[in-house]
Amino acid sequence: MTAEPAVKSPLPVDLHPERLPYHVAVIMDGNGRWAKQRGLPRVMGHRRGVDTLKQLLRRCSDWGIGALTAYAFSTENWGRPLEEVGFLMTLFERVLRQELTDMMAENVRIQFVGNLAGLPASLQTEIDRAVEQTRQNRGIRFTVATNYGGRQEILQACRAIATQVQAGVLQPEDIDENLFGRHLYTADLQDPDLLIRTSGEMRISNFLLWQLAYAEIYVTDTLWPDFDEGEFHRALQTYQGRDRRFGKVSS
Ligand code: FPP
Repeated sequence: MTAEPAVKSPLPVDLHPERLPYHVAVIMDGNGRWAKQRGLPRVMGHRRGVDTLKQLLRRCSDWGIGALTAYAFSTENWGRPLEEVGFLMTLFERVLRQELTDMMAENVRIQFVGNLAGLPASLQTEIDRAVEQTRQNRGIRFTVATNYGGRQEILQACRAIATQVQAGVLQPEDIDENLFGRHLYTADLQDPDLLIRTSGEMRISNFLLWQLAYAEIYVTDTLWPDFDEGEFHRALQTYQGRDRRFGKVSS
């Protein structure tokens, strides 16, 4: 965010502002392959991936999209080589520290979802600082899924609800979609309308399992570091061409 002038990019004329997704979620896949194709260490792909994410956040904000959620680190990613995990943790921390001023200037409200207690203490400190400082911002809501797993999220919601039932605070018949959703990490966030996955894999990889129930899914072969404004434009064109029926018939 630092290197660019603060010039707003207008919404491309072929996109309908009234039919934009409110909430876009992204699975940023392909950083390692992008680096390998260039004979670089995998971590260089992650570094480049941060730039792509920053650009996407800015485009979303410029084009009037209300929320962006990015899958930065899954509960399964701990199984990667120690060196790569360490690099990612340090990268998250550094990016948060460096980008806070720009996020404030651009009115971004950042939040994190996942098992944050399992992250290094120094990263938790940066997360707390960024969340606290941007809490009053009323621009785009930027959610970073870190040490996140969809099944784990659902299980912790079940446990929290079961505890309340056991205590007699809730009755089993009180449990509906609304109540369940309020026990997820994303309690105050509308479900994603559009999920974008890069690098061609047709999977949701334990990402927002409950929340993606009716999201439109867009998969591109492009590797994450190459997912630029033109690619995002194409994703939105495809989204606007879809007939969202939510299980009903076309009107
Ligand atoms: C997947 O590519 C990417 C990741 C697991 C990490 C994504 C993280 C970032 C882009 C940094 C985001 C930073 C902040 C502060 C939110 P891969 O390594 O699985 O690629 P491959 O499938 O080609 O191996």
